[in-house]
Amino acid sequence: MFNRISIFTGNAHPKLAKDIAKYLGGKVSPALVSRFSDGEVRVKIEENVRGKDVFVVQPTSPPVNENLMELLIMIDALKRASARRITAVIPYFGYARQDRKDQPRVPITAKLVANLLTVAGADRVLTLDLHAGQIQGFFDIPLDHLYAINVFVEYFSKKKLKNNLVIVSPDVGGIKMARAYAKRLSAGLAIVDKRRNSPDSTSAIHILGEVEGKNCVLVDDIIATGSSLIEAAKALKRSGSKDIYAAVTHGILSKDAVKRIENSDIRQLVITDSVPLPPEKKSPKIKVVSVASLLGEAIKRIHEERSISILFEF
Ligand code: R5P
Repeated sequence: MFNRISIFTGNAHPKLAKDIAKYLGGKVSPALVSRFSDGEVRVKIEENVRGKDVFVVQPTSPPVNENLMELLIMIDALKRASARRITAVIPYFGYARQDRKDQPRVPITAKLVANLLTVAGADRVLTLDLHAGQIQGFFDIPLDHLYAINVFVEYFSKKKLKNNLVIVSPDVGGIKMARAYAKRLSAGLAIVDKRRNSPDSTSAIHILGEVEGKNCVLVDDIIATGSSLIEAAKALKRSGSKDIYAAVTHGILSKDAVKRIENSDIRQLVITDSVPLPPEKKSPKIKVVSVASLLGEAIKRIHEERSISILFEF
């Protein structure tokens, strides 16, 4: 297979790229991705890619602008090196929360990023748990959207939480996903009535659903400051919940989120490796489950022109 496909990575998450390549039975291809003395991104693809099916693994996680520019410039280099097809594998799609004009004079940055990727030369995109499914429509090239649900369901199935479990959506927008978890884990369903006070602060007002005496799993796509989950967990505790877990695909964990999680009512936060977890963010309360095989299998199927829907059928 590795004579027909190549996996490349920038500096965003080389470990994930390596794990994906390992799943596929090969290695990440060599590329220089560094900086010129003035800070500009310097790229050189160090193997022949003529006619190859190329996948660039690069979440646009913090430092978002650096990682995004690396991805764009790598795609440009690969296009000019005559790759047959270039797929941007973006396990975490940054800027996704700016996806509509909800106030006067604000940008739709998610659309701008989609345009940039296409203009750079991406032929396809493979991504995971987009903040808003509609972002798929910002692209006029094929986009495959994966879900981490099966990875989390496998993890929570092994815990002895069944019979007394409720899946909780921390806001109204997450109900569909929470319902899918509840169905898969034969659990109840509850929703937090969340109000966002500012980009970094939320309040959880009410819990809609029965949580008293139940173990709860909050499910969400992103944890940034942690405010949404911590406030939701507080509201669940007030309503008499037993143990509270959280399953979140993208562990961005900005500002002092880790410390706040450690001091919160959340017993365990389970995140995926869609973005790297630097050593200073490691905590006994945080468990990481891998999406490398999910992404690897999707890459294999894309290369072989096979369906990938089997990977996220609920
Ligand atoms: C909101 O719509 C998202 O699904 C997340 O709940 C939110 O982005 C998390 O942000 P924070 O951790 O800062 O509350």
